This record gives sequence, structure tokens and C-alpha cells, in this order.
Amino acid sequence: MDKAIEIQNMTLVLGGRTILNIPYFAVENGQSVSLMGPNGAGKTSLMLIMAALQPPTSGTITWFGKKAENHDLLELRRKMAMVFQKPMMLDLSVTENVELGLKFRHVSRKEREKRVKPWLEKLGIAHLARQRARSLSGGEAQRVAIAQALVLQPQVIFLDEPFSNLDKATRDEFKQDIGRLLREQQITTVMVTHHIREATDLTDIIYYMEDGEIVGQKAVKDGISIDQFGMGEEC
Ligand SMILES: Nc1ncnc2c1ncn2[C@@H]1O[C@H](COP(=O)(O)OP(=O)(O)OP(=O)(O)O)[C@@H](O)[C@H]1O
Ligand SMILES: [Mg+2]
Repeated sequence: MDKAIEIQNMTLVLGGRTILNIPYFAVENGQSVSLMGPNGAGKTSLMLIMAALQPPTSGTITWFGKKAENHDLLELRRKMAMVFQKPMMLDLSVTENVELGLKFRHVSRKEREKRVKPWLEKLGIAHLARQRARSLSGGEAQRVAIAQALVLQPQVIFLDEPFSNLDKATRDEFKQDIGRLLREQQITTVMVTHHIREATDLTDIIYYMEDGEIVGQKAVKDGISIDQFGMGEEC
């Protein structure tokens, strides 16, 4: 399999502190991986680097077989979408928020309408289309943020705790929907979660981070016990 992202000898130093120290990490095209680990372990920072939103302090990042300097950064970012830990919505309607990325890409109004509507339906938020996005509940906002990313048809999607604002029933249902969508679309996925069940249900490999380093990994097909990383069901 080709690699979507490959990281070699990478460090990230911020405010004089080493936030990440990753000798090697790669995500294959079409693969789904989880990043787990305690608060402050560096999961979001690693995702920002992989999404080309944060340059590393040292080391090499390769996207689709080409190093950063050989990519048009804007083109590269357009192949990837990130759903942030805290969804950010503009004070516009749900539809307007979801179509924003397409607008930036100069997609016509007609085409935007055609592309946005099915995603609102798939994510169960079609009835909220005209509501102001800032008035949504946390879980609704999370769905809008995911629609915003998927409508761009990215090759790679980064999901930073995408289910954290959802109640258990919604989370279980939504998890299944998202799993199906990601498989159908064959999107390379990197997901941060604190719940091992989300990781085993949605991804192929789980990486465990601590203090800016990847200290464990396990393929889900090998069978993962809840206590795999000595962290219990959540971490
Ligand atoms: N711009 C910054 N300047 C200084 N330190 C930073 C900066 N951004 C992140 N950090 C620090 O880097 C560490 C890793 O942060 P990061 O957000 O990647 O953790 P995380 O694993 O995503 O945690 P959480 O589970 O709480 O989301 C934290 O200690 C954080 O305070
Ligand atoms: Mg984080």
C-alpha cells in the first residue's frame, strides 16, 4: 500500500518545550488509525502537523510520496480535512457553514447546493439547514463540523474527538453512521479518541501516545482487550 503520510525524525518544540518526538510514523492510503493517550500527550499537535497546519521544528513529512517542499501547500491542504476538537462555526446558517469550504474553492452555487444537501441528510441534520449554526447544541455542531469536512471529499480526514459532545445513544448510532460513510468513501482516517471501543469499531490500528511520543501500537484485527494499554476502557 502507498503511504498517505510518512513522518521521519520529527520534533515539535513550542515555548521551549518538546511537544512531539516521533522517529517514525506512517499512515497508509485508505487506512484508518486512532491516536489515544492522556490529555497533553500530543495527539492534536500530531494531527495538526499531519494536516499541514503546523510546521514541525525538525524532521521530514511526506504526503502521498512527496515532501512538503515539493507540494503546493494549498493544493495539499485541499486533499485533507480536519474536524477540530472544538467545532468553530461562523454566525451563518448550518447550510452556509457547511458550504463555506466549497465557496472558497469557487464551486458554483448550484453545485454547492447539490453537494451539501446529501451530507446534511446523511448526518441527520437536514432539518437544521436554516438554523443559525451558533445556536446548535454541542452534538449538532459536531455533526455540522463533520459535514463541513466530508462535503470537501477529502482523501484524508482528521477527526479530533469527533464524538466527545454526544450522549451515549447518539454516539453509538452516529459512530456506526460515520464508520459506514468513511468505509464507503474509502477515506484515509486519523481519529483521536479517549474511548477504546470507538477506536476498535472505527479504525485498523491504534497508536498510544504519552509525553509527545508514540509508545504503543496494536492492530485491531489482532484482537484488543479493553485493558490493552493498561488504561481501562477510557483514557
Ligand atoms: N502553541 C503552543 N505553545 C506551547 N505549548 C503548546 C502549544 N500547543 C500545544 N502545547 C502543549 O503541547 C502539549 C500537547 O498538546 P495537545 O493539544 O497536542 O495534546 P492532546 O494529546 O491533544 O491533549 P487532549 O487530550 O487534552 O486534547 C500540551 O502540554 C499543550 O499544553
Ligand atoms: Mg487534543
